[in-house]
Amino acid sequence: MAEDLEIIKGSKEEQYTSLLPQVKGIVEGETDLIANLANVAGALKEQFNWLWVGFYLVKGNELVLGPFQGPVACTRIQKGRGVCGSSWAEAKTLIVPDVEKFPGHIACSSLSRSEIVVPVIRMGEVVAILDADSIDLSAFDETDKIFLEQIIELIRFK
Ligand code: SME
Repeated sequence: MAEDLEIIKGSKEEQYTSLLPQVKGIVEGETDLIANLANVAGALKEQFNWLWVGFYLVKGNELVLGPFQGPVACTRIQKGRGVCGSSWAEAKTLIVPDVEKFPGHIACSSLSRSEIVVPVIRMGEVVAILDADSIDLSAFDETDKIFLEQIIELIRFK
């Protein structure tokens, strides 16, 4: 398998439409969760070049940092805390156009201006979250929500 991604320019929708089948190809032949999370984070970083993109895994009563691309980040987040912990508690995708206006936002990087957090739900339980941060305000919208939710559906969690 060639490991190179084809990175395209174009609208956000065009970029996701190009990326989605490539991510499918990468994860479907691999059963190891960490390997797949690492490659999904890598693929999203390559295509969109966000400040930070990666996963936190639910371990007991907290989120613990998983594979990511970007600056170092806080390692543990309690349920209900920050955007990530809120997305877990509410089991829904949260789009934050301006992180300074989100009460309790956890600033892992002072450069982050907007954020999207998508919960990974398996058998009715949140098992992980995908977090993406941008240096631009209002970087994320419904298109990101729709496609990121599709991308995380491709990952097999036990
Ligand atoms: N900003 C997140 C914390 C995680 S980092 O951005 C990587 C939050 O408020 O939950």
